[in-house]
Amino acid sequence: MAGAELVELAKRRGFFFGANGAYGGTAGFYTFGPQGAALKRNLEDAWRDRFTLREGNREIEAPTVMPEAVFEASGHLEGFDDMLVECGECGESHRADHLVEDATGIEDAEALPGEEVEELIRDHDVACPSCGSPLAGRDVEDFNLMFATDIGPGDGQPGYLRPETAQGIFVEFPRLKEYARGSLPFGITQIGPAYRNEISPRGGLLRLREFTQAELEQFIDPEADEPPLDRVEDVEVRLYPATAQDEEDGEYLDTTVGEAVAEGIIGSPWVGYYLGVAQEWYERVGVDTDRFRFRQHLAGERAHYAADCWDAESEVDGDWIEIAGFAYRGDYDLSKHDAYGDDSFTVFKRYDEPKTVERATVDPDMSVLGPEFGGDAAAVAEALETLAGRDPDAFEGETVTVEVGEGDERETHEVDADVASFSIETVTESGEHITPHVVEPSFGVGRTVQTLLAHAYETDEVDGEERTYLSLAPEIAPRDAAVFPLVTNDEPLTDLADRVASDLRAAGLAVAYDDSGSIGRRYRRQDEVGTPFCVTVDRDGVEGDGPETVTVRERDSAAQVRVPVADLADELAALRTG
Ligand code: GAP
Repeated sequence: MAGAELVELAKRRGFFFGANGAYGGTAGFYTFGPQGAALKRNLEDAWRDRFTLREGNREIEAPTVMPEAVFEASGHLEGFDDMLVECGECGESHRADHLVEDATGIEDAEALPGEEVEELIRDHDVACPSCGSPLAGRDVEDFNLMFATDIGPGDGQPGYLRPETAQGIFVEFPRLKEYARGSLPFGITQIGPAYRNEISPRGGLLRLREFTQAELEQFIDPEADEPPLDRVEDVEVRLYPATAQDEEDGEYLDTTVGEAVAEGIIGSPWVGYYLGVAQEWYERVGVDTDRFRFRQHLAGERAHYAADCWDAESEVDGDWIEIAGFAYRGDYDLSKHDAYGDDSFTVFKRYDEPKTVERATVDPDMSVLGPEFGGDAAAVAEALETLAGRDPDAFEGETVTVEVGEGDERETHEVDADVASFSIETVTESGEHITPHVVEPSFGVGRTVQTLLAHAYETDEVDGEERTYLSLAPEIAPRDAAVFPLVTNDEPLTDLADRVASDLRAAGLAVAYDDSGSIGRRYRRQDEVGTPFCVTVDRDGVEGDGPETVTVRERDSAAQVRVPVADLADELAALRTG
């Protein structure tokens, strides 16, 4: 089914539709209708069950608006840009890298410098997709994707809508580590909206300006913590490593998580672990594994924070779309917030045995702690410790190297050893402060919803008639069941159907009730929104001395079985969870 057809079907059947239609619509914003909202909630619950509860992780809910300082620290203010080219004729803006990819077949134009993209636009006569005018000679600009706002009245405090839920987790790390009693590893999850002012929203839920992410930040000690790889080592995965993408006819690698990690194809065992968990979860929620793969990022494609990254990709309408990213973020985020924020983003790692070490104590007023050192007495002390055990009279003419600052702002200074005023003592230390590393599985909920609809769409023939149905996993389908009285003018039937529906609802199932049209039409209506079971109340079920019974029809096979009413809720609940 073509992408546009799927979006149309989603609208017709109440899954999702463009928002604010009465006011001309707003590109990049979608409303989930009654079916879609239920399906999305079921999907989020399934994610919560697998990535939060079953992993022993904890979930939080942080604000969606955050102050500017957070994004200065995270690097989003500086680097969360896409390449924009504006048409001189019609004024429409477009993703310059996407236009170049379409025109040249280059796969990763995002990684190219702006000038090179401008050249490619010129050399390939790239035209504006809206009006057809040539774009050659137009500047390619960096466009920051964050939505800006003011926090409070007047000039207020500048703030931004979060572009990823992850930052809400990182920023609260000083509190969260306390709840984990300072002990690694621990994982924090969050499901919620993220905002990106995308230049060209498109494809239904594929590229939105407001979308839902489900993210897990796994905090680890990189030197000590190992994932429970044995739980997923036999899980079969289809990998598309960077090396295969570089080759003309590069092939997929069908392997197991255990082998891919052992052979170093997946660089981090933690990333491998979560690829395995995700593979099983995607199968559980109904992704067609023949239309699914894990693709490794090419070096130039990785986000500013990622050391290694794999995407989960699904095939929808002939295109591969990224539905989740699995990044080894190292200590990038916590180090940044440690340097910029007013709190500690480290944890104290206790040694197995206390260690005896030489430590320098520096006079904080001494001249070497001038502005160029940022008052970083600890850095100077660390450098001076290299002199431990030596005769201070012999320092003349010697220097020590002091490193101060973090990341790009890191500087190296040579300090005259004999001008430094310090003492070196032998101390016993019980541990050290370390900055945890982060492994991040990050899921797009909307893109997964769209994948599930595309992969569940089926057509077949029932009773000589063509039908379309959605073979959604029962756990994910918007409704658990629908209840029909076979005829509407028979009171015992309608009474029983009413009672069956309300009992099922009281048992926690989402149940539709439909008494209009032929039974065949009622089945079709439910098939089209993926309801896995239809319960029909007929005369046979209420007559005679035996227990009341109903027929239960399974959606995909259209097979029917007769079930006692008293067992129905339990039977359906068991069928739903498989
Ligand atoms: N914290 C990491 C992060 O945000 P990302 O790859 O930028 O990584 C993660 O986003 C997932 O969020 C993507 O795999 C995708 O499924 C979803 N996503 C990102 N941008 C989106 C957009 N504009 N519309 C819909 N989903 C989006």
